[in-house]
Amino acid sequence: MSLFPTYPRLPITITDGEGTIVRDEDNKEYLDFMAGIGVNNLGHRPASVQRAIEEQMNRLWHVSNLFPIPVQEDAAKLLTEHSSMDAVFFCNSGAEANEAAIKLARKHTWKDKVVTFHQSFHGRTFATMAATGQDKVRTGFGQMLEPFEYARWNDRESVEAAIDENTAACLVEVVQGEGGVRPGEQSFLKHVQAICKENGALFIIDEIQTGMGRTGELFSYQTVGLDPDIITSAKGLGSGFPIGAMLGKEYLKEDFGPGSHGSTFGGNPLSAAAAKATLEEIVQEEFLDDVKEKGNYLKGKLELMVNDVPGVEEVRGLGLMIGIEWDREVKPMIEQAREKGLLILPAGPNVIRLLPPLTVTMKQLEAALQILDEVFHDQ
Ligand SMILES: Cc1ncc(COP(=O)(O)O)c(C=O)c1O
Repeated sequence: MSLFPTYPRLPITITDGEGTIVRDEDNKEYLDFMAGIGVNNLGHRPASVQRAIEEQMNRLWHVSNLFPIPVQEDAAKLLTEHSSMDAVFFCNSGAEANEAAIKLARKHTWKDKVVTFHQSFHGRTFATMAATGQDKVRTGFGQMLEPFEYARWNDRESVEAAIDENTAACLVEVVQGEGGVRPGEQSFLKHVQAICKENGALFIIDEIQTGMGRTGELFSYQTVGLDPDIITSAKGLGSGFPIGAMLGKEYLKEDFGPGSHGSTFGGNPLSAAAAKATLEEIVQEEFLDDVKEKGNYLKGKLELMVNDVPGVEEVRGLGLMIGIEWDREVKPMIEQAREKGLLILPAGPNVIRLLPPLTVTMKQLEAALQILDEVFHDQ
């Protein structure tokens, strides 16, 4: 294979997808509860996004950010109207969105230190790798960008010790995704926000996995009533079309003036059309209510199911982002589920992570629960 072996590939090749269903090259069907790792929030090939991309494709694919791009402005307007943010910078991925956030925080505060958390994940570029509180992500890459400091999750004292007058920002996931689907306690998150304000540090929320409706609001910080200075988005923003975004408050605008930052492809007409069409669906109140309802249903059913399953430590999560922590490695269970036609993810060695499309039907939820029941009771 002429590829770097950066990914341990699964033994099936997905060739087709529609909604929550994908097919492999032998035409076997699977319920896709991985959703491209939280990307296909509207399912595979959502009709309205497909239409928007096709229409844009017939007019203009790319034009430089040296020109006004109306569809990019439309996508930005939807993001700011449905959040507490005032301005958007578009890029191409989650890591780039976090890079932009870190650059903006340093430029605004004239300070360097960034505080993040153990078990966090923020990306694979030099700044975001340094921000990631997991040794396995950083090992082997030499000197890290400094200074980053890692506080303990849900531990007030640890964060009080880490954030000081030299801190530019604290970067937080409301629910740690890659680190094991670990929700931050509301009082803890509010405390972190308060310590940031006291020290003149910016409070940044990484919404790359938790955003775009995943937790039942457009962004997860809205579920716990936070007031961040900056948030970052990617993954589900373009329904599979690559696009990322950094959103900030009005008072940060002048720090990202002409020439300060940029991206050739960021928010180009095609990706912006995908984001605009995706946002138009997700911001609907009924859509988000439906996510909350299905999330509560799925979590409730799982909690009941694991009552008589020895080895399950906890079922946790928010909306349709759910983790099931075991006292053992979950890889064999994930393989069993796949053989039975359900695709699920790990989040670390001991946690099963469920990230179905937000458009999953009740019937599909029931079918997935049936497979999980069989797999869990077979351990
Ligand atoms: C919370 C979080 N931040 C950042 C990233 C990095 O995003 P990307 O892979 O698009 O660079 C991820 C990806 O898994 C993520 O889950």
